[in-house]
Amino acid sequence: MIFAANFKMNKTQKEILEYFSNFNFDGVNSNIMFALPYTSLSLINKLPQNNILYGSQNVHFAKKGAFTGEISVEMIKELGADFSLIAHSERRQFFGETDESAALRAQAALDSGLKVIFCVGENHRQRRANRTKFVLKRQLIKGLKNINNSQNLIVAYEPVWAIGTGKSATATEIQSTHAFIKGVLFSMFKTDIPVLYGGSVNIKNINDICNIKNVDGVLVGGASLSPDTMRELIISGSKK
Ligand code: 13P
Repeated sequence: MIFAANFKMNKTQKEILEYFSNFNFDGVNSNIMFALPYTSLSLINKLPQNNILYGSQNVHFAKKGAFTGEISVEMIKELGADFSLIAHSERRQFFGETDESAALRAQAALDSGLKVIFCVGENHRQRRANRTKFVLKRQLIKGLKNINNSQNLIVAYEPVWAIGTGKSATATEIQSTHAFIKGVLFSMFKTDIPVLYGGSVNIKNINDICNIKNVDGVLVGGASLSPDTMRELIISGSKK
């Protein structure tokens, strides 16, 4: 199981240091990933290291150049990042991320040896119009079309209507959508790609979600912001 946390635009450096000094990792030995704000990546070498990966929430595709406000792969790697999220729905929704730009970012990150958590998900309108599979397939095929080596690729299914709403997808929805995503990925890469679920994961639903077939882990936003809750999520989600 992979337990990934996305801190989004939360926590200063001081708060990140507090978070990790309060995090009790005793008895926790799953694969854990923290997507930190850029401003805290320089703390990575001071943070706990056992089985834990740290990364960014986005990364640009160009090596360098006139891209004001962007951050390159080399810049985050220099600070010790192991991975980056790519194409989170908030990037797609609020910052003009397209399948095409996401494809370039995923390619640049994977080519550099970083791991990538590539996010896909339909919004409420697309879901109501019964277009979920169409949208997911398009996001995967266009977004991952440049990828030759899928070894470091993880996909996160995050239905947009479930993010931050307290309304997660049902077990049946997650199982069938993950099966569909795994099928598309298998046809592209001829291998099993891990697929995480994200969207209102909390202490109440984590165990059920982690025990759904085809769920390889979770990507947690709000609930990951407390170290005690994140620890509980990992422990509860690891139970069969
Ligand atoms: P919430 O867990 O707050 O719904 O956020 C999910 C998410 O967007 C993780 O990337």
